[in-house]
Amino acid sequence: YDVIVKKEITSTNSFAKQLNDQNHDDKRHLIIAEKQTQGYGRRGRSFYSPEKSGLYMSMLVPFHDAKNLNPGLLTTMTAVVVAKALKKMYPEIDFYVKWINDIYVNSKKVVGILTELVMDAELMQPSAIVVGVGISLNIQDIPDELKDKVGSISDKKINKNQLVDLIVNGFEAEFPHYLEANFIEEYQKISFLNGKKVSVDVINDTVEGIVTGIDKQGHLLLDVDGKEVTINNGEVVKV
Ligand code: BTN
Repeated sequence: YDVIVKKEITSTNSFAKQLNDQNHDDKRHLIIAEKQTQGYGRRGRSFYSPEKSGLYMSMLVPFHDAKNLNPGLLTTMTAVVVAKALKKMYPEIDFYVKWINDIYVNSKKVVGILTELVMDAELMQPSAIVVGVGISLNIQDIPDELKDKVGSISDKKINKNQLVDLIVNGFEAEFPHYLEANFIEEYQKISFLNGKKVSVDVINDTVEGIVTGIDKQGHLLLDVDGKEVTINNGEVVKV
């Protein structure tokens, strides 16, 4: 990996995308920032990224084989990788993955993950993927409107390099065979939603049911009045 560290950045994900537009060197890049002024998440939401209170990073991975691409499954894989990295550093804390792209501690979000495809404008096909990971650490004053939802890991002496290493190495170990979805078993063990009653926003509709797990494609499985329903793409809006 070619590593770029910035004090302040708009967003490590958008930086990674620009980098990909500018050079097609086929190298993997890792962008890390201490602060993001325009960190973002799914559905255009902003991601709270204050200075010294987090690890904000994006991996830019060139990708040429579009048929082996499953961004949802890759996001799930990354969630398991990050949860395992955090567990290694903090064995006493229970980390849970929440479909599709969050990690929770004590029912609050401490990690957000955003996987984006980068299209090659000429070839009209994906030429890279950007995997962004934001971890909230030592946040002092969480804004009132986020207090119920956002948590943070307290560790004043955190070794961020070690955490980055664990995440990148974990990603590298799983990525070559992520389509086999071997990590699903681990996912099930630390799934935040399993057994819970949820509402899921899907296109023009809301589905309510009890979460039974995820399948090998990374899709969410619900029990809706005794019937199994598969959610390919949606947003859990209520637990
Ligand atoms: C979400 O909550 O929907 C995902 C949040 C992803 C945040 C990370 S922080 C590093 C990278 N840069 C961004 O702008 N977003 C991701």
